[in-house]
Amino acid sequence: MSVEVIPTIKIEKTLNSKIDKVDFNNLPFGQYTTDHMFICDYVDGKWQQPKIVPYQNISLDPSSKIFHYGQSVFEGMKAYKDIDGKVWLFRPEDNQRRINISAKRMAIPELPAEYFMEGLKALLKLDSDWIPTSEGSSLYVRPFVFASGDGFHASPSDEYKFVIACSPSGTYFNRKVKLLIEQHFSRSANGGVGYAKAGGNYGGQFYPTKLANDKGYDQVIWTDDTTHEYIEEAGAMNIFIRIGDTLITAPVSDRILDGITRKSIIEIAKDEGIDVEVRRISVNELQEASKTGSLKEIFGAGTAAVISPVYAFGYNEKDYHLPDVENSYADFLKKKITDIQYNRSEDKFGWRYLVE
Ligand SMILES: Cc1ncc(COP(=O)(O)O)c(C=O)c1O
Repeated sequence: MSVEVIPTIKIEKTLNSKIDKVDFNNLPFGQYTTDHMFICDYVDGKWQQPKIVPYQNISLDPSSKIFHYGQSVFEGMKAYKDIDGKVWLFRPEDNQRRINISAKRMAIPELPAEYFMEGLKALLKLDSDWIPTSEGSSLYVRPFVFASGDGFHASPSDEYKFVIACSPSGTYFNRKVKLLIEQHFSRSANGGVGYAKAGGNYGGQFYPTKLANDKGYDQVIWTDDTTHEYIEEAGAMNIFIRIGDTLITAPVSDRILDGITRKSIIEIAKDEGIDVEVRRISVNELQEASKTGSLKEIFGAGTAAVISPVYAFGYNEKDYHLPDVENSYADFLKKKITDIQYNRSEDKFGWRYLVE
């Protein structure tokens, strides 16, 4: 980890807050932005003076590499306000490390850890009035880095921008979802960029997801690119499957994002005495378990939705419905993890991070 000391962040405050225009009792996910943003340029081989400025457009040359070669990586995290008004993050150092793992894969210069952490804290302190407090809401935080250097030559940019923007957000999905097991398209491949939060990974998902939406499914269950026989992720979430009383999730790999929610759920579940298996699980096993009645639950796990329970999945033109289980693992684990995130319970794993 870099020990570079961050220069003092220059702060220019807005003179026109837009906070009164937002209905905090009726928040969509990720639609509104706060008053300020953090921005830092990479020029001449180094990260320059970090700044916080009023939220604003960014002007780029049409030949900027981001438009042509998609050099961009991002993170997704949330800030929570507890009943005493204290502001918390959840395992932010893991996001900091992961953005650099993503950056490295996309030939983007890594960010010194302090730029990420100090920028995040300063921005959250300034915009803390924007953190919603109603049940299930939070401030979604989006750090991202993209290639801002000019030129049509297909080579890595020599200039980048690191930005942090925030969005007061309500719940992501407020109902159970129906997923289609993907048998043709792949989200990622061996040796590819699936483990990175690179913008193009998401752009590439939109078309197969749209086809699934047209058939009445909310999202796609991604399978391995070689055989399409093994279950990997659900939309932009990791996936958990409960067969009997065992919770199963695929191991992370080149193709699967190392989700922070996923690894937290694994730890919480084990700590609660739930049998957890991190192993490959095939579509065939899922179908068989559904037929015999041992398939109890499927849920997606990720920062945005936290835990997103599934009511049915489709495969080979057939739908398989999940039973309504009492005391579901999904509800139990969602409560456990959100109680830690919102400072409603003890944090025995040391995951909460106090901002102010
Ligand atoms: C492809 C993909 N998988 C899984 C996740 C869940 O990761 P996390 O729990 O760190 O948000 C995300 C979201 O970040 C994602 O984009």
